Amino acid sequence: MSSVLDPKVVLVTGASSGIGRATALALSKAGAIVAVGGRRTDRLEALAQEAPGEILVLDMDVSDPESVREAVDRTVERFGTLDIVVNNAGIMLTGPVLDADPAEWTRMVETNLLGSMYTVHAALPHLLRSRGAVVQISSTSGRISSAGAAVYSATKFGVNAFAEALRQEVTEQGVRVVLVEPGFVSTELADHITDPTSRAAVKTMAESMRTLQPEDIAAAVVYAVTQPDHVAVNEILVRPTDQSR
Ligand SMILES: NC(=O)c1ccc[n+]([C@@H]2O[C@H](COP(=O)([O-])OP(=O)(O)OC[C@H]3O[C@@H](n4cnc5c(N)ncnc54)[C@H](OP(=O)(O)O)[C@@H]3O)[C@@H](O)[C@H]2O)c1
Repeated sequence: MSSVLDPKVVLVTGASSGIGRATALALSKAGAIVAVGGRRTDRLEALAQEAPGEILVLDMDVSDPESVREAVDRTVERFGTLDIVVNNAGIMLTGPVLDADPAEWTRMVETNLLGSMYTVHAALPHLLRSRGAVVQISSTSGRISSAGAAVYSATKFGVNAFAEALRQEVTEQGVRVVLVEPGFVSTELADHITDPTSRAAVKTMAESMRTLQPEDIAAAVVYAVTQPDHVAVNEILVRPTDQSR
């Protein structure tokens, strides 16, 4: 496995923590050159120290199309190509619809849904040239909607819809689209929930099961992108064994 992705160039968004960080490290260990995007660049610099391969740190806010375009351009200017994009950046600000602050809905739509669309739009010309791949980190919430997660789920259902249409548009040109749908993973995602009841409910849920670790999802991404060119792993759903829905 060690040089399977050598010399592929991969951009991972939201690589400063959780799934994105673990995925960037796993791809680096598999031989890829990895451009890592996020707003907390101090954390990205620390990741660059830890990774075995070459890392490009990008100050990148996926909710800002200009920032996204700059990040993609910098990656291609530096390495001459872009082979794989992992659209991972996301936020989960759950709570009941009635009590919600619509500004949080805007942030979720701009980050989870529009952010991944902006990244695909900026990267696609390069991916068509390299016959590359797009990995969209969605969620089980993109398949099953549940009370308290209406808008988070709506963004992930949107990610799934976008991925399937994109797949149909580009598959015959050799670009593979991979949807990865994690269940409950131990990360800082829920720490940012502002509604105390919802935050406590997620914590209780986490304590009730053996959750996934970010490395479990990173392994799924590496599996998908290391298949031979004629094999398109289009969808991977990974739940903790203890998670029923
Ligand atoms: N944890 C789970 O149980 C779970 C389950 C299913 C799906 N997911 C999905 O997995 C993805 C990663 O989440 P995680 O669990 O690893 O959470 P996390 O540890 O909170 O990581 C989220 C990442 O997204 C980045 N991010 C947030 N807003 C951004 C923005 N505007 N621009 C650029 N980067 C931004 C953060 O970086 P900065 O703050 O430094 O910008 C951070 O690196 C998300 O799409 C999430 O919906 C998670």
